[in-house]
Parts: sequence; C-alpha cells; structure tokens
Amino acid sequence: MIDILLGLQWGDEGKGKIVDFLAGKYDIIARFQGGPNAGHTLYIDGKKVVLHTIPSGVFQSHCLNLIGNGVVIDPVTLKAEIDKIIPLCPDLLKRLFVSQKAHLILPTHRALDAASESAKGVDKIGSTLKGIGPAYMDKTGRNGLRVGDILSPNFIDKYNKLKQKHLQMLRQYPGAATEWEQWEQPFFDAVERMRFLQIVNAEYWLDEHLKAGKKILAEGAQGSMLDIDFGTYPFVTSSNTIAAGVCSGLGVAPARIGEVYGITKAYCTRVGSGPFPTELEDATGEALRAAGHEFGATTGRPRRCGWLDLVALRYAVMLSGVTKLIITKTDVMDSFSPIKAATAYTVNGETTTQMPFDICDAPISPVYSTFDGWEKPISECNNYDELPQTFKEYCTFIEQYLNAKISHISNGTGRDQLIVI
Ligand code: GDP
Ligand code: IMO
Ligand code: MG
Repeated sequence: MIDILLGLQWGDEGKGKIVDFLAGKYDIIARFQGGPNAGHTLYIDGKKVVLHTIPSGVFQSHCLNLIGNGVVIDPVTLKAEIDKIIPLCPDLLKRLFVSQKAHLILPTHRALDAASESAKGVDKIGSTLKGIGPAYMDKTGRNGLRVGDILSPNFIDKYNKLKQKHLQMLRQYPGAATEWEQWEQPFFDAVERMRFLQIVNAEYWLDEHLKAGKKILAEGAQGSMLDIDFGTYPFVTSSNTIAAGVCSGLGVAPARIGEVYGITKAYCTRVGSGPFPTELEDATGEALRAAGHEFGATTGRPRRCGWLDLVALRYAVMLSGVTKLIITKTDVMDSFSPIKAATAYTVNGETTTQMPFDICDAPISPVYSTFDGWEKPISECNNYDELPQTFKEYCTFIEQYLNAKISHISNGTGRDQLIVI
C-alpha cells in the first residue's frame, strides 16, 4: 500500500518534520507534485536543513527516495541541494531516484514567471518565482522537456526549440529581465550532473516495490488550499496538491492508496497573495508570526497569520479523504487566550459552512468559536495525558467538527517533539 501525507492549509504545515519522523516505518518516500517552490524544514541533530526537491526521507538511512513524474525539477536547485546534503548523508545518491517523466524547469521558465508576475501588478499571485507555473504550462501545453530527454543525443536541440518559444513569449513583456542568460551555463552544468542520477521508469519501479510488500509514503508539497482545482484560484500553485494528485503524480492506482495523513497547524498561515478569511492584520497576527517564526523557508517572506479556519480545513479533509489528522505548532499558541477558530463564513449576508466559489471578490467574514487558551508551555509534554485540559478541549472540538481523528500532535521543531496518540 501507499500512504499519503499532505498539507491541509496553504502550505508550511510542517510536512518536512513529520515525513522525517514517519519515514522510520517506510521503505520509500516519494514526492508527487510541486517543485522547488516547496521548502520543507527538518532538524537533524539540532541542525536545520531545508529541502526543496529532495524527499524528506533522506535522513532515515534505510529509506529510498523518489522524485516522481508529477514534480517539476530545476536541475540547478537540485544540484545545490544534493551538494548541501551529501556531507550529512554520504550515501544520498545511492538512495535517490528520479522519474524519467518528471518535467524540467528551464532558465527561461523562471524568466517567464518573473515577467508574468510583474505584469500582473497588484493582482500578482505572490509566486515563489521558481518557474513553477510556466513549467507546468509547458507540460499541459505538450511542449515540456522531461528528465529522460537529458539522456537523448538531441537534448540541446529540444532545449533550443523551447527556449526560442519562450523568448517569443518574453517579448510580450516589455522590460523583461534578461538575467536568464546568466542562468544558462549553471543549468547545463547541473543537467550534466543529473545524467549520473538514478533515472528510472518510476511507475514500474514503484509497482515492483509494492508487489514486494514495501511500504511507501507519498510526500505532498504546498497545501490543499493551493491546489490548482480546489484551492483559492487563481491564487494557487499549478499542481494538484490533494490526495488525487498522488495517482497521476506517481502512476499508482487508487486502490493502492492506504492511509491519508493530513497536516494542519493549530492556527493558519499563508505566504503570497490571495484570500485568507481568518487573517489577523493586527497585533495578534504579529504575535503569532513572532511566536511561530513564520517566515518562508524558500523565499524568507513573512507569512501572513490568522486563526484556524475549520471551514477550509473540513473542505480539505473531504477532498483528500483524510484518515489521520496531525496538528503541528501547538506550542506556538501557548501564550494566546482566548483562541478562536472559524466554523462558518458570512458571505453577502448569508452564512455558510462550505467554501464559496467566489472567495476572491465577495466580502467574507468568518464566524468564530472561542476557546480558553492553555497559557502554559506544552513543548515539554511527552504524552497526551500530560497536555492541559483546555488544549485537549480545543483538539476535541477540531476532531468533532472535521469528523477526523488526531493521530499526532507536534509541540516543537525537534524530531522527538511529537506526541503519538
Ligand atoms: P513544510 O513546508 O510543511 O515542510 O513546513 P516548513 O518547513 O515550510 O514550515 C514549518 C516550520 O515550522 C519549520 O520551521 C519547522 O521547523 C517548524 N515546525 C514544525 N513543527 C513545529 C512545531 O510543532 N512547533 C514549532 N514551534 N515549530 C514547528
Ligand atoms: P511547502 O511545500 C507555502 C505559494 C506561493 C504563492 C503560490 C504560487 O513548503 O508547503 P508558485 O511558486 O507555486 O507559483 O506560487 O503558492 N506557495 C507556497 N506557500 N508553502 C509552499 O510549499 C508553497 N509553494 C508555493 O507563495 O502564493
Ligand atoms: Mg514550507
């Protein structure tokens, strides 16, 4: 069976930390979508490591790690990541596999991302500018280059053909930067390195491992509210971040999916533009950002902060069929009281518990339930019984509202700061 772990909010829920922990009982960790827009933070022997393209199972020495076909790879970022991790993980290359069908991010994809964002002005998505949107556009537009293409003798011709197309597109954006020219040589150097990776026919590779009884965990990137179909469109990323993305992003049949772990913070964050109904643009929001060190792992941008949004969360749980709920960053709320969570929205004078279609333009005000805070540090708690009663009441409310059981509570950044229920 293949289990899934994914973010239920707008990303940065703590997926990296939890995958690193869960990887102890899996044979293979596989990324199925997204690309270097992701930033998954792990603490290994107290040292902070941020992974962008490489799956978060690399620090469990028995684990194989696959970058699946649904991922878009920037060879330059991947090379830099490999160089950074090898000293910590000398056998990395033996345990890293890449699907030949994963698409490549070209220097001109990054240039197009930047040009498109700047042309949007105030309506910009707040993209990480890693070239994600343009690379997925070329994939669905049937123009893309794939990892397998780098092994072809006419790779350079294919590259030039696509580059010319991009240059034509870039001409529509007056003043578009030409920095991409400086990114070309590092790109080719990195492609050269990629040829030595274990490039596999990943769907067959996974099938063989599944038949051999191996345990596989699919690691999501971004979060459900950034899903291209179900997120707060158009302020989303360009891939399917929900459980359905695993089947197409790895080439596994739905019947092989087992548990679906869904991760949420005890509150909400969002980085980049777009609707965020429970956002706190006040001192409480500032205090959450400070307590949670809410700054992007990929771009360093401050994350917008707000109360937990149970309307959005229930939607995400429904879309992916979450079987196990994981709550992270609970310790961040130690000093907050009261604590609020949105249980409905008022949209144009009507109250709803469903995600509205028009979330971007219609005025939405959250309807809150209020809870007493626990007002004591919970990062030292080692089991559920030690947790304060008020915290347990908050958890029980969340479980009942979502009709999902909490399996893990994370109460700190450390690998061992995780309460298994
Ligand atoms: P990801 O993209 O979902 O992997 O999450 P990020 O790594 O972008 O952001 C999560 C941040 O929260 C990281 O800095 C983690 O070290 C940190 N983190 C994860 N779990 C906890 C927790 O339970 N408590 C605290 N205080 N920090 C946490
Ligand atoms: P992880 O895996 C948080 C956001 C960007 C922007 C929007 C589109 O670390 O949770 P893109 O670069 O994909 O075109 O940006 O999506 N975004 C993320 N926000 N965590 C992420 O990944 C994100 N990846 C993209 O900020 O709003
Ligand atoms: Mg992140």
